[in-house]
Amino acid sequence: MKRLLSVVGARPQFVKAAVVSRAIARAGGLEHKLVHTGQHYDDNMSDIFFRELDIARPDFALGVRSSSHGEMTGLMLAGIEKVLLAEKPDAVIVYGDTNSTLAAALAAVKLHVPVAHVEAGLRSFNMRMPEEVNRIVADRVSRWLFCPTATAERNLLGEGIPKDQIHKVGDVMYDAVLHYASRAPQSKRSGGYCVATVHRAENTDDPQRLASILKALDQVAQSTPIVLPLHPRTRARVKDFGLSTGKIEVVEPVGYLEMLALVRGAEAVFTDSGGLQKEAFFLGRPCITLRDETEWVELVELGANVVAGTDAQAIVGAWRELAGRSLDAAARPYGSGDAGGAIVAALRGVE
Ligand code: UD1
Repeated sequence: MKRLLSVVGARPQFVKAAVVSRAIARAGGLEHKLVHTGQHYDDNMSDIFFRELDIARPDFALGVRSSSHGEMTGLMLAGIEKVLLAEKPDAVIVYGDTNSTLAAALAAVKLHVPVAHVEAGLRSFNMRMPEEVNRIVADRVSRWLFCPTATAERNLLGEGIPKDQIHKVGDVMYDAVLHYASRAPQSKRSGGYCVATVHRAENTDDPQRLASILKALDQVAQSTPIVLPLHPRTRARVKDFGLSTGKIEVVEPVGYLEMLALVRGAEAVFTDSGGLQKEAFFLGRPCITLRDETEWVELVELGANVVAGTDAQAIVGAWRELAGRSLDAAARPYGSGDAGGAIVAALRGVE
């Protein structure tokens, strides 16, 4: 194993690849190239992450902007295939569950390039989520399945994935928080506030669900300010559906470090993001999840997270229940903070 190639495209993948990239550089003796599909392209959705996380510029930028699932994935598939044919890497590393993950895994496996999947084994058991489809396909074709949790490992064993392909390494996002939190500025906000994000298709593209989430956040905002860095998709839907954001403080999407700062200073986090649920936990903040299920069941078991769905009353009720709850600081369900090192060690073990 000498030449590795990572494929990224969307916000959380930049964070995950930054961790793996640093671990590869630390290990030495391995070449690592980076492909950016272009799925996220705005400065505050992409470039800012490269600057803040010290990630090298991508070796290949495919410039495939997000569009419909079929078109986006198809264009990425063709672009990644060209890179793989030219580069002939020994393995391709894919991250998480986006359309960029799916395209990279398919392009690689068809060319018989072994695939390493970082954040394997997560399941929501909801096949209407594009992410669930993406991660199941990526897992099925991967040679190395790097699981963040015991639950993820159990899911894969239950699906008949051979044990020797599964590696429980911990969560690279925990490595990232440990490494970058000290660089996050102090939040400029004084006094109590909450932070919220909403971007999942199942919430943004359904007017009832989106309206109900905004109603709940507005209700909370009557007594506690809520900051909502708004994803461009959500911003567009709020406008399309003619919805109001009421007293919620809507801001542009923020970079990784500012998000860590916001969460660290917040009383609670409201989100439908997978990554943010864990970042809240790593920073000792309770989380109200704006979905009907979560892949991060450990957080619910620990009492750090309530899966509230999208009913306004349930969301506000969960907030009242969680606010001020002290979290179990000793719990470490996401490993020891060296998932990156464990991933590289496993990849190096194969010649
Ligand atoms: C994607 C992933 C999701 C992940 C999220 C992280 C898929 C199917 N979904 O969702 O799993 O949690 O990234 O943020 O891959 N847009 C812009 N500028 C950008 C990026 C997006 O304006 O830089 C707008 C575009 O109108 C686009 C829409 O946002 O059509 C949605 O973007 P897309 O990449 O399809 O999905 P995300 O919701 O970002």
